[in-house]
Amino acid sequence: MLLSIPDVLSPEQVAEARRALDRAAWVDGVVTAGHQSARAKNNQQLPEDSETARRIGELVLAALQRNPVFMSSALPLRVFPPLFNRYKGGQSFGTHVDNAIRQVPGTAHRVRTDLSATLFLSQPDEYDGGELVVEDTYGVHTVRLPAGSLILYPASSLHHVKPVTRGARVASFFWIQSMVRDDGERTLLFDLDMAIQKLVRETPDHAAAVQLTGVYHNLLRRWADL
Ligand code: NI
Repeated sequence: MLLSIPDVLSPEQVAEARRALDRAAWVDGVVTAGHQSARAKNNQQLPEDSETARRIGELVLAALQRNPVFMSSALPLRVFPPLFNRYKGGQSFGTHVDNAIRQVPGTAHRVRTDLSATLFLSQPDEYDGGELVVEDTYGVHTVRLPAGSLILYPASSLHHVKPVTRGARVASFFWIQSMVRDDGERTLLFDLDMAIQKLVRETPDHAAAVQLTGVYHNLLRRWADL
């Protein structure tokens, strides 16, 4: 499933993040690249231990916790602490696949990357190019979202970022280990949840809503790993 989630951050939160990020010290993005993707990667990144990355990362994590569409679609077990990147002056990231397992820096925790996420922090009119291009079994998807919006996609997919030919593209990126590792099962649960919510909104007292909610939880119980 490829899902865009609007307004994960409010305009005020985007402005706060950008004020901090635009003042921060950026380094070559190759620091978090795996062996193969290091050759494709050409961008800037905030060091993982930077105070700004930690503070704005916590703002992002808190916003995710409050977002019902994120919680329902990702069913997160662990979220990797958000990282931040910037592309400008023709920088790009060639086709690659994200590492399957990520060690959380400074801890003994590892995250299996079931889902990849990019949270856009530049408005589309601030830069040219910079599209995220994701290849999945249904074809090639080109993504460029307003600041504050998030794209979620299977971490197993090949993807790249096109060259930024004007301005700067600032984003947060991170990975999610889901309670439901299989993308197909997770998608079914999300579709079912959305349908139940629609039923409850339109026909609040329909008896089938309780039965369907039972089906949802029984499927989740069957498929979830904690
Ligand atoms: Ni990637």
